[in-house]
Amino acid sequence: MRRGRSPEGEHYYPAFPYPSYTKMDEADLAHLWAWLRELPPIAKPNLPHELTRYKRRGPLAFWKLLELERGPLPEDPELDLELARGRYLVEAVGHCGECHSPRNRIGATRARHELAGSDADPEPGPNITPHAEGLASWTVEDWQTFLSLAMTPDGDFVGGEMGRVVREGTAPLSEADRRAIARWMVEGVEPRPDP
Ligand code: HEC
Repeated sequence: MRRGRSPEGEHYYPAFPYPSYTKMDEADLAHLWAWLRELPPIAKPNLPHELTRYKRRGPLAFWKLLELERGPLPEDPELDLELARGRYLVEAVGHCGECHSPRNRIGATRARHELAGSDADPEPGPNITPHAEGLASWTVEDWQTFLSLAMTPDGDFVGGEMGRVVREGTAPLSEADRRAIARWMVEGVEPRPDP
């Protein structure tokens, strides 16, 4: 989860979003592990790997040296507790940037354009920063409604990948956590134009 490495020492592709999970704190990772251990074992053949862009895993080690931020999210004393929680849920656990930030040539998300939209196949993630080209008009209440119902302020519903993120990710969260995310998206995230 933190280093993108299997128990055998093999490097994973960042399609498994460990560059975000590396920011999770010890206790949450321990809880995840404990929960996974409780699941019944199921015999099922693994899916074939579909990534064709990179054939070798060797260069991944080098990339990770350059790109991977190690350790938990640094504390920001400027943030109140709710905003800090929102930031943690968005940047680490929720890994929103994995689909909403553009990537560079080696597949890493580009910090300068964080959450400003990606053109990833097959489902591009739109600009969700509070910029005029993104969601500047969304209020904290709009965000809360979206995170629980997948409904945008103009009454549209998102489907596909984002529908799943809401259904399995943000809708089951507590009201307090959804509010923390909502405030972070409105007050914390830097407005950025489309890349
Ligand atoms: C697995 C990829 C993925 C992840 C992870 C993801 N999103 Fe999305 N998101 C999408 C896609 C794709 C769309 C476009 C959906 C559509 O247009 O129907 C979208 C749409 C949205 C929209 C609607 C924007 C608009 O212009 O109407 C918002 C808001 C949003 N996402 C917020 C988030 C937040 C907050 C997170 C993290 C908690 C997140 N997303 C995580 C893929 C993702």
